[in-house]
Amino acid sequence: MKLHYLYICFVFVLLATSFTMQQMGWIVPGSDDVWPQSFEAVNAHGKLGFIHTGGDIDMKNHAFFMPLGTNGRACVSCHQPGDGMGLSVESLRRRWEETDGRDPVFATYDGANHPKLPQEDKAAHSLLLNRGLFRIELPWPVKSDHGVAVHPEFDIEVVSDPTGVNLDPELGLKAGKISVFRRPRPVANMTYVMSPDPVFNIKTGTLAVKDEETGRVVGMNMMADSRHYTQKQQAIDAYFTHLQGVNQLTEKQIQEIKSFENQLFMAQSHDMWGSALVENGEPAGLGPLAMKDGKVHILGNNNRDPIFHWFESWKDETKMTSTLTAEQKAFRASVARGNDLFMFREFWIRDATHINTIGLGNPVRRSCSTCHNGQMTGQDLAPGWVDLGTTNYPTWTENHVATQKSELPVFKCTCKKEAPPHPFLGRVIYTTDPGRALITGKCIDIGSIVMQQFRGLAARAPYFVNGSAKTLGEVVDYYDRRFDIKLSEQEKTDLVNFLSVL
Ligand code: HEC
Ligand code: HEC
Repeated sequence: MKLHYLYICFVFVLLATSFTMQQMGWIVPGSDDVWPQSFEAVNAHGKLGFIHTGGDIDMKNHAFFMPLGTNGRACVSCHQPGDGMGLSVESLRRRWEETDGRDPVFATYDGANHPKLPQEDKAAHSLLLNRGLFRIELPWPVKSDHGVAVHPEFDIEVVSDPTGVNLDPELGLKAGKISVFRRPRPVANMTYVMSPDPVFNIKTGTLAVKDEETGRVVGMNMMADSRHYTQKQQAIDAYFTHLQGVNQLTEKQIQEIKSFENQLFMAQSHDMWGSALVENGEPAGLGPLAMKDGKVHILGNNNRDPIFHWFESWKDETKMTSTLTAEQKAFRASVARGNDLFMFREFWIRDATHINTIGLGNPVRRSCSTCHNGQMTGQDLAPGWVDLGTTNYPTWTENHVATQKSELPVFKCTCKKEAPPHPFLGRVIYTTDPGRALITGKCIDIGSIVMQQFRGLAARAPYFVNGSAKTLGEVVDYYDRRFDIKLSEQEKTDLVNFLSVL
């Protein structure tokens, strides 16, 4: 009887899956289809739900979906709904097979390890196909941060250059450029990401930055290094780089992109057995409707109004809907424990610049939610850059054995005599991505990366700025090592299950 029931469920899930997959597979630039006001896209952990408060979109005539530049890409090429408005390695590999590497997403400008390699060569795309990374080219030495003169406090040398870009005379440091390799970041729930910071910036001890056009304080939680303060600046840059645009985006196109980003809400909506995560309004923090209706910029690292609200209704399996299977009930109880761990399980946070340097002490006994403190997204309410240690030696995610080369470039940053050193790593820092320091030129910022929002995690593996954690389990393992937390296997599973329903 039970098996029979499971079988019916299975067939139902399969049917539901094939339907939504057909509807919302890989979106090609200039698609004739309609982006519906609300829909779901399937992923390994269930389904991700979307709501666009501006109604249906005719993608053919919309700036986010049109190939506006010269390489055939649109914004959607790297911000796909099936991948949580980012890109998963799984989709990239599938797309490579389907198109023999001819999809414009693989354009060599930033989609290959080196722009001069042939597009049809699969090995030339190893960083994209193995880790989901695109090349981000930035000027070095940086001269100006939004009109403010910058005099870098450190020099950079290339220690290892597996892709050859940084030592290339035309593309590398000699030509005044530096290339790092980074993951796309989700483009949805942007009203949360963009919510303005407090007037005082706790990370720099200075007044918060203002948008030059409107004079309003901006939030600094966008891009891994917060190099763009507004969606307009970001869109213009994406047009010239990722889309290889040669003209100018029109004001109308910029507004169209911005309003799409601000009206799009996304969150996981169904578990992997096909049941809705939100029933009778509980738990209140899950699903796209909660994102649409949530308040932006609320501090959630407390037990009054926690980051993803409460999961009390999932703590007692006897109180759950009877239509759920025993497996589903156990899963929900695990998620509820994961939320508690994320909120309250304490460990010693140490040597993380912009957390341990802002007056909290080093080490400080706190939880995940200390850094990921913004309600609904798990970003930081202050400007979001923190040196968690993913890119700086010795806590980085790469090999620790000197003879084993990293897949990523390795840079040696040497702080100048007159400059203050990096607070925990001294004057010489080895890193695969200096992060925020590539914009500010400050030693203290080397390795600081802006944390990403947590929504849609299930759909966009791998994780971290450098795609080093293949699964959510590997994310949790990194933390366990980095902060010597000593999580039990059960605690790890609970945290992963929790992250997978956001
Ligand atoms: C070739 C792939 C690619 C294309 C095409 C692309 N992006 Fe991105 N996008 C990225 C990457 C990579 C990042 C992260 C860069 C970083 O952190 O330095 C990003 C980040 C973003 C972010 C920041 C999200 C956040 O929360 O930090 C926004 C917004 C965005 N892109 C919008 C756009 C728009 C608008 C377009 C079209 C004009 C576009 N993207 C085209 C790869 C792409
Ligand atoms: C010291 C501050 C800090 C603490 C504590 C912290 N994080 Fe993070 N977290 C970050 C930063 C910074 C990033 C971005 C790092 C990167 O991309 O390389 C990040 C990234 C992540 C990501 C990856 C998101 C993505 O899209 O790739 C997840 C998931 C995550 N953290 C979960 C957790 C969990 C679970 C805990 C507790 C065990 C935790 N974090 C504790 C600062 C912190």
